[in-house]
Parts: sequence; C-alpha cells; structure tokens
Amino acid sequence: VNIFEQTNSLQAHLNALKQNGKTVGFVPTMGALHDGHCSLIREAKEVCDVVVCSIFVNPTQFNETSDFSNYPRTIDADIDILERENCDILFHPSHKEVYPKNIAPTDFDFGKLELVMEGEHRPGHFKGVAMVVKRLFEMVQPDQAFFGLKDYQQFLIIRELTNQLSLSIKITGCPIVRENSGLAMSSRNQHLSEQQKEGATVLHRMLHDLKQNTEKESVALEKQKITAAVTQAGLEIEYIEIADANSLQPISDWDSTRPTNAFIAAFTGPVRLIDNMIIFA
Ligand code: PAF
Repeated sequence: VNIFEQTNSLQAHLNALKQNGKTVGFVPTMGALHDGHCSLIREAKEVCDVVVCSIFVNPTQFNETSDFSNYPRTIDADIDILERENCDILFHPSHKEVYPKNIAPTDFDFGKLELVMEGEHRPGHFKGVAMVVKRLFEMVQPDQAFFGLKDYQQFLIIRELTNQLSLSIKITGCPIVRENSGLAMSSRNQHLSEQQKEGATVLHRMLHDLKQNTEKESVALEKQKITAAVTQAGLEIEYIEIADANSLQPISDWDSTRPTNAFIAAFTGPVRLIDNMIIFA
C-alpha cells in the first residue's frame, strides 16, 4: 500500500492515474480497521480501478472528548490489513492537513434528517461528519465513495451533502458486516469484554425478531418489547426507532409498501453501540 500524508502528493499521484482513464474509489475511515471496513475496500476494488482508504480520527464529530481520546488508534495493524486487502493507497493526513487555519467553516443544514436518532442524541455530530467528509472529498476527489450501512443515518446525510454541494461523487452504501454472534462490527467493539459482547448480541436478535413480528404486533408494542429485552440483557437503551428508510421520520403503523428500517442505540457500560435492520425493503 502506497502511503500519503500530504494532499499535494496524493493529488499528483491520482491525477496521473486519472489521466490514464482510471477511476478512483474512496473508503474514508477513522482506522481501527475490521472486517466491515474490509468489505468496503473489497467492494471499492470490485468497481473502481484504484482504491484510496483514508485514516483520520476526526475530532469535530465526537461529542465527548473522552470518546475522542479513547478511540482506538491501531495504525500499524491497519497498514497490515490494507496490505492484505491489496488496497492501493492509504491517505493518512495530519490534523493541520485536514483543517488548515485558512479554511472557511461551512454551515450545513440537513433539515429533519439530522434532528432524529443520532442527530438528536449526539448534537453537532453530523455537522462534524459533514465537515470532514467535505474536506476529504476535496482532497481525494474520488469518483465513488463507500460507506457502511451500520451508520445508516450518516450514509443518508453524506448522500444529501453530496447533492447539496452538487458533487459528482457516487455514494454507495454497503451492507452491515456482523460477527458470527450477530453483533454488528464496530471499532468500538474493541472496548467490550467477552461478557459485554455476549450481552450486546441482544441488539441484533431483537431487530431480527421484530422483522418476523410485524404481522403480529403493533409498532408501539414491539418497541416496548425490545426496550425490555435490551434492559434485561444489562444494556441501557438510548433509543429504538422504526422509521421511513429515506426520510428517517418515525412511523407508527406498519406499511409493507414503504421502505422501513428499525434503528437502535444502547450503552453497554460506557460503550455506545448502534445497529439497524431493513424491515421492509
Ligand atoms: O464512519 C466513519 O468512520 C466516519 O464517520 C467517517 C465517515 C470516516 C468520517 O470521519
């Protein structure tokens, strides 16, 4: 894997490739790479000629400074994974490179999309995500970018950001990758004990159950059941929401003709986990 820390040299390298008609796929990450990230890199390699993975732990999207300082940083292991996946380029910029002093702040407005779920519970989070993704897109200038659908709301926000900025970057969402236990892969899983990991499988199990039960129970009753089961498993639930898969506005009655997802966020100890599942495609 070819490693770049400076935007100038990355762009010079990519421009030469683009002049030869090569397409550039981009997988932005905050490192601590796991199989979920690998699936994004594989998908990018499948459809693009050159794949750039970026690693930058972006301070502007964390609401808790402790979450930012505790975020796993495993650059040597990450480079090994990128080598194994035959990823072409690692872009590993410094804070100064991403946020130079002369950069004008942008005020983003994603309307209702950012007022629910993660947006409601993590104020400012999506403005931070939008800020860094806009910068990374300016720096890498890819043809296509790949995001994991575990962060489903982030995926919709980035699609909206790309529309608002009229960027010609195709935004692709890739399916959630799970451990054998069903637990959705996340860099934050590194902080979980075996027992907490076992407990956290309740999230996936209950979403799965919900999908089977839409004929039998009301939306409200299903939400109550999930809250009870998650609490019983020793987690602290932050939200359980059943929402329109495009607008993310909550629904109160099942409608199988309407694309619908179920979303959950819960704490196990200090670690916050999220998961979601397609209920109606
Ligand atoms: O999903 C992530 O890892 C981050 O939110 C992203 C998109 C790399 C922006 O920092």
